[in-house]
Amino acid sequence: MKNISVAIMAAGLGTRMKSSIPKVLHTISGFEMLYLIIKEAKLISDDVHVIIYHQAELIKEKMSHYFDDIHFILQDHQNFPGTGGAIRGINAKHERLLVLNGDMPLLQAKVMYNFMHYDADIVMSAFTCKEPFGYGRVIMDENHTVAKIVEEKDADEEEKKVTSVNAGVYLFKTSFLADNLPKLTNNNAQKEYYITDLVSLTSNVKAISVSEETFMGVNSKYHLSIAENLMQDRIKKTFMEKGVLMRLPQTIYIESDVEMEGECILENGVSLLKGAKISHSHIKTNSIIEKSIIKDSSIGPMARIRPDSVIENSHIGNFVEVKKSTLNGVKAGHLSYLGDTLIDEGTNIGCGTITCNYDGKGKYKTIIGKNVFVGSDTQLVAPVTIEDDVIIASGTTVTKNIPKGSLAINREPLKIIPDFFYKFFGKK
Ligand code: UD1
Ligand code: CA
Repeated sequence: MKNISVAIMAAGLGTRMKSSIPKVLHTISGFEMLYLIIKEAKLISDDVHVIIYHQAELIKEKMSHYFDDIHFILQDHQNFPGTGGAIRGINAKHERLLVLNGDMPLLQAKVMYNFMHYDADIVMSAFTCKEPFGYGRVIMDENHTVAKIVEEKDADEEEKKVTSVNAGVYLFKTSFLADNLPKLTNNNAQKEYYITDLVSLTSNVKAISVSEETFMGVNSKYHLSIAENLMQDRIKKTFMEKGVLMRLPQTIYIESDVEMEGECILENGVSLLKGAKISHSHIKTNSIIEKSIIKDSSIGPMARIRPDSVIENSHIGNFVEVKKSTLNGVKAGHLSYLGDTLIDEGTNIGCGTITCNYDGKGKYKTIIGKNVFVGSDTQLVAPVTIEDDVIIASGTTVTKNIPKGSLAINREPLKIIPDFFYKFFGKK
């Protein structure tokens, strides 16, 4: 299939975002908007060009983490600013070029395919929208074909009332572009070369009607929040259809590479961040899970599972933080920090247990065997190993390895001084 080239325009300044981060690097559900659209473009094309200019190096560096086979094109922005300038430098491999805006995070490959069913110099896309402000208005002639696209800043009062707007995705014949791009001028309010002016240079334009939700362009942080909501709905709907139960889904946040299988339950306020893989588990209110595997377990409420943890057949209760730890068949019901630990089956971690994994310089491991009873308020000073069948008395600071079957206790005898209260505060 892939006999089509794609250009993604990402060279704009993104002034309306009011941000030091380039617009296309703002994230939706954990991933940069530009990453999302490149990923979809690569599904339909083996010739993807990304046009950059502002903060070009940063954009290139970020995208290079994900892709090694896309062409970055530097726009000649000084001489040819604007979307019409953006696509000048492209040497497309195929006879047709699909042009996308880098600020369209919701557009999917399956929708891009629709453009390819038509044969015209330009297949463009439009939708009708209640608040057309900011979009280019599509002006039809008496034959109901597209006469021109007028940008917000160039539109007169009558044109501004038009609610049919340019969605910003176009499929061009490459030969048409070669002949007509040099004809564009910057004779407009923004002194820019507009890609949209190309529709006035041919009568062979096909306009297809598309959905506003899928094609929305993100120009401001408010738009970013709308796109985020739409993306979250999309992600959650897919999981719910697969059998995941969500309480008050509008309060749940799930990043787009999260995986879930089996009958999972997510309570309100849960955040599942990048790389979380969850199966047959119950994640309770306000818990956060990041880049970890959770299997046949219950987590929370208010637990935080940090990257590189593997939790199986376990119960993690409220206010427990787990980091880079592997727990299998473990109960840690309340208020603990378990960092860089390996804990085996049948072990109970008492309330207030802390692994002291960091000495200010390095991080060290705590290894706990099977059937260990760790009393409340224990500190495990790593590196340390607790063998199977150990009891650690409440309030113990463990600084040595503990052999199988032992009790560890380092308590000072409790002193009781009669009537001390009255000596100290005096008697009333
Ligand atoms: C553009 C369209 C408008 C359409 C809207 C749909 C033009 C002139 N207008 O407006 O008709 O309704 O998209 O969302 O095309 N870019 C470059 N180089 C530049 C300028 C922009 O690569 O010199 C990139 C931007 O990074 C962005 C995309 O092109 O990803 C669109 O630019 P933007 O400024 O957002 O255009 P809109 O004003 O939204
Ligand atoms: Ca835009």
